[in-house]
Amino acid sequence: MQQSASKRPTHTPVTSENSIRDSIVEYLLGADQSVSGELLSHEFGITRAAVWKHIHALEEMGFQFHRRHGVGYRIERTPDLLLGPLLRQRLHPSVRLGEHVIWKKETTSTNDDAVALLNAKMGIPDGTIVTALSQSGGRGRHGRRWSSPEGGLWQSIVITKPVPLQRASSLTLVTSVAVRRALEKHTQLPISIKWPNDLLCGGKKLGGILAEVKAQGETTSYAVIGIGLNTNVDASEFPKEIQATSTSVWSESGRRISHLDFEADLLKELDPMISHVAVGGAGFSLVSDEWRQASATLGQLVRVSLGDRIIEGRAVELDDDGTLHVDTGQEVIKVLSGDVLF
Ligand code: BTN
Repeated sequence: MQQSASKRPTHTPVTSENSIRDSIVEYLLGADQSVSGELLSHEFGITRAAVWKHIHALEEMGFQFHRRHGVGYRIERTPDLLLGPLLRQRLHPSVRLGEHVIWKKETTSTNDDAVALLNAKMGIPDGTIVTALSQSGGRGRHGRRWSSPEGGLWQSIVITKPVPLQRASSLTLVTSVAVRRALEKHTQLPISIKWPNDLLCGGKKLGGILAEVKAQGETTSYAVIGIGLNTNVDASEFPKEIQATSTSVWSESGRRISHLDFEADLLKELDPMISHVAVGGAGFSLVSDEWRQASATLGQLVRVSLGDRIIEGRAVELDDDGTLHVDTGQEVIKVLSGDVLF
């Protein structure tokens, strides 16, 4: 659902890196006529030359401006980038996740960026999203490398509201359900979930979730939910070692999706789920039936890596706290965290 910029209060991003750029975009989006460079320079306390530099940088990012000498700038076209002002226009009014966005052209890992900002205690607001067009050091679970070229959707959602530690694993599970809902809506592809965090299409990996938490007593002092989705990338260009097992939206459907529209829907799904998990409401059990229906794991013969050993058996059940039950024939082993190898 669209919402005009004027209905949602403006937000200055937490880093100065992109704050003026985003403020200029927000200002121009909210204006009903062209805005002069002079007015922008007064409004943001910067020189006319600095205004021009920002406009030029925005053009490089894909913005198109209607410029008339002596009249000023009006936005004519916006790119499909997860910039705060563009995302906020699309956010449902009830959604708090994504009100603040830190956008980068390139970074090592958005999870690392989010953790560094949190540890620096800069007052990063709950629900902030760190996103980048590409990551040079994207991380998957167990320290694996996560290939993150331009075209995919790489983001980390910061949760500073405390979550009871025993529910922290639910963050990954509810996120996988929310991502699946948004993916199915925007791609019409059948998406299944492989325990605990893989999004699959046709048995191949389309995305994954890496949730990292810092504990303080019995609750989290923060959680960072990293979501990596192979959206508008060509799977034939993936590194050789993952080509047989990975795919992308584009390669499966022949179509690209709008990252901004997808994100607005994802956050609309995810926001209430995260709140439930945090406040001790229904949490994962709210969506656990949906998870089970979408599961590529339940009922299957699986090999589960537990770090130091591998067990084999049939995945027979998933608890409402996210524990997987594996029947080995001799016993049913309850696995809270591990990796399904199939
Ligand atoms: C997995 O399936 O192993 C999890 C992959 C998670 C990748 C995402 S991309 C955004 C965020 N930044 C990272 O470095 N990793 C996560």
